Formats: sequence, C-alpha cells, structure tokens
Amino acid sequence: MMTTLTVIKADVGSIGGHVAPSRNLLDTISRHVARGMDDLISDFYVAHTGDDIAILMVHDKGVGHEEIHRLAWEAFKAGTATAQEQGLYGAGQDLLVDSFSGNVKGAGPAVAEMEFQPRANEPFLMFLADKTEPGAYNLPLYLAFADPMNTGGLLLSPEITKGFRFRVMDVSYTHGDRVIELATPEDLYNLAALLRDNDRFVVESIFSRHDGEQAAAVSTTRLHNIAGKYTGKDDPVMLVRVQKNFPATGEILAPYAIAHYVGGFMRGSHVGPLMPVKHGTGCSYFDGPPIVSGWGFCVKNGRLTEPVDLFDHPFWDAVRSRAADKAMEMRRQGFSGPAMLPYSELEYGGIVRILEKLEPRFTIRAAKKEAKETELVPA
Ligand code: 13P
Ligand code: 13P
Ligand code: MG
Ligand code: MG
Repeated sequence: MMTTLTVIKADVGSIGGHVAPSRNLLDTISRHVARGMDDLISDFYVAHTGDDIAILMVHDKGVGHEEIHRLAWEAFKAGTATAQEQGLYGAGQDLLVDSFSGNVKGAGPAVAEMEFQPRANEPFLMFLADKTEPGAYNLPLYLAFADPMNTGGLLLSPEITKGFRFRVMDVSYTHGDRVIELATPEDLYNLAALLRDNDRFVVESIFSRHDGEQAAAVSTTRLHNIAGKYTGKDDPVMLVRVQKNFPATGEILAPYAIAHYVGGFMRGSHVGPLMPVKHGTGCSYFDGPPIVSGWGFCVKNGRLTEPVDLFDHPFWDAVRSRAADKAMEMRRQGFSGPAMLPYSELEYGGIVRILEKLEPRFTIRAAKKEAKETELVPA
C-alpha cells in the first residue's frame, strides 16, 4: 500500500514579534488536525521552528489531495482565530487568500509531499527552517546527494553510486512551474551553475537513479511572488528519505556543519548563517539568525514513531557557536554589500521608495567635449 507524507507549514501568529507561536495556538492546530484521524489521515505530528508551525500528516491519498490540504488550511484558520484572541503578532500572516480553493499551493503555506511504497523499514527526516528561503536547502542537498567529499556512500554503496536526478525549479517564473531535470554525476557542473542562485533556482525534488524512488521533497513557495509584496519570508520545509538506496542520515546532516550564509534574517532582507537548532527553538538575534531544525522519524503501517531531535547533540553546540560568530561578523557591516540582499530581492518596499524620491535629485553632468586626437595620442 502506498504511503503519502505531507508537511504543510504556515506562520499564523507569534509571541513577542516574529519569535515563536503560543502553546494555545499549537494546541488549537493539533486539536483541529486530530479530527482528520477518523477517515482522512492515519497519523500526524505538529511541530514548530521559530514562528512557523508545521503539520506533518501520514495518509494514503497521494500528493496534492484536496481534503488533506483543506484539513491543514482549516487548522491554520482555526489557529488564526486563536492568535487573534490572544493578540499574537502577525495573526494569519501566511494565509494570503480569503478562501481555500482546493490546494494550499499558491495560497501562502509551504508544502512538501511524497508518495511512495514504504520499504520494510522507512526512516525519513523532516527539516523546518525559519527566517530564510527555499534555496537554503540547495547547498546541503547538493553536497549530500552529489558530492563524494561529503557523502562516502556515493563511493561505497552500490545502490547510490548510480547517482540521483534533481528536479530544479526556477522560482522567479510566475506564470507556472518552470522546472528542469539534471542527473548527477554527469550534470554536476550544470547543477552547480543553477544552485549558485538560491533565490532563483531551488531544488524541488530528488530521485534515485538506482530504482527511481523519490528521496527528497522541498517546498518552493515564494510569498512575495504570491502577494506581490513582502508578507514574511518563505521559511521552507523539506522531507528526505534516508539509508539503503538513499544517503545515510549522517550524510544528509553533515553539510549543516558549514552554517552556510543564506538570504532571510531580519525583515527577510539580509544574509546570515543557517544555524542548526534544537526542537522548539525560537528566533532572537536580529530576528534570527536563520535557523533549521531536524526531525527524524520512522513510519510503518501509516503510523509515525515519536521524533528524534537531529541537532540535539553536543557536536552541534560547536556549530551553533561558530554560526553565532559568523552572524555577528556579517552584522558588523550593517547594510553594506553582501550583508543585505540585492535590490531585486529586497522584501521591504522602503528602499524602492527612497530611490524613487531621490530620482529627481539626480543630475547628469554635461558630457565632456570630445577629446582631441592630439590629446589622446601625445606626440
Ligand atoms: P544502511 O546501509 O543501513 O543505509 O547504513 C549505511 C551506513 O553505514 C550508515 O552510516
Ligand atoms: P517571518 O517570515 O518568520 O514571519 O519573519 C518576518 C520578518 O520580517 C522577521 O524580521
Ligand atoms: Mg512571522
Ligand atoms: Mg517564520
């Protein structure tokens, strides 16, 4: 029997700014999703990272199923009502349309889904990131699935030496889903050329070339493409199946030790290191730094185990400390150069307005008289 994992996440309100949701809000959402246990879903788990709440659901309805999406949408609606009652900041922030129209894609929430025939044992990981964008997973996925310097399994495991197929989306294209498929190792440089641009090209899914099985699914929502203006950062979610025909858990986790710089951070307009954090971590320094949490599960007969906290280990304390140093180092240069995102990516309209106001104050200096040939070529 096929199993579907669906994770849908949204920010529908948080305490003390864009920090973390309230207990009440999480309870409301859990209670609402539990109603689906009668006939729709076989299990679920509600988690949060920063100010975002993710609903992980297990079911047999396949991806993009209307009733599954509706269950999450209505849970977030119910959560919004609780957030309003409690006076939480940004109540309903990521619900960008008034009414549900069959799928949460394009309506604000982030969604990642996978349908597969479960293996005899089926370990998988869920990643929730806050104060960053979907392209934040590009580098970790490239390293884990395509680089033998990170993933020894690419050399050692017969199932994964055949490589992987990456489906990459051009998220700047707004008239539909513009995607390309690249197969590693042959397309390694082509893949790198695209994944360089985290804000434009985003890994959407990855498949094994050994057996065609799907290994990873990433949310690719761009809130400002939907709303036409800044409404919050996209704060992506990801599901990754691990072991045997896929990289091992530790190979998927290893790239997060880099704490690589990503777009997001304060007002979705800066660059900061992606800090791997423990479950339940909120945001703090400069509304960040960008954070990612990792949740390990096994699923069997439609039921989830309890999660393990993938970044709750003494090893990651050293990484967190390095990430804090990297964050402070970048923040020392304030608005200058790479510390702030380029003009095309700026999430707040303020800079645009400043430039518009300054427009009439620019002058163009009279062109210099054409230099005489004799001046250009001294005798
Ligand atoms: P599996 O072959 O069970 O996936 O284990 C690989 C491994 O050695 C994990 O580090
Ligand atoms: P969120 O997208 O996490 O709500 O953050 C918004 C923001 O502007 C933080 O400074
Ligand atoms: Mg928020
Ligand atoms: Mg958020």
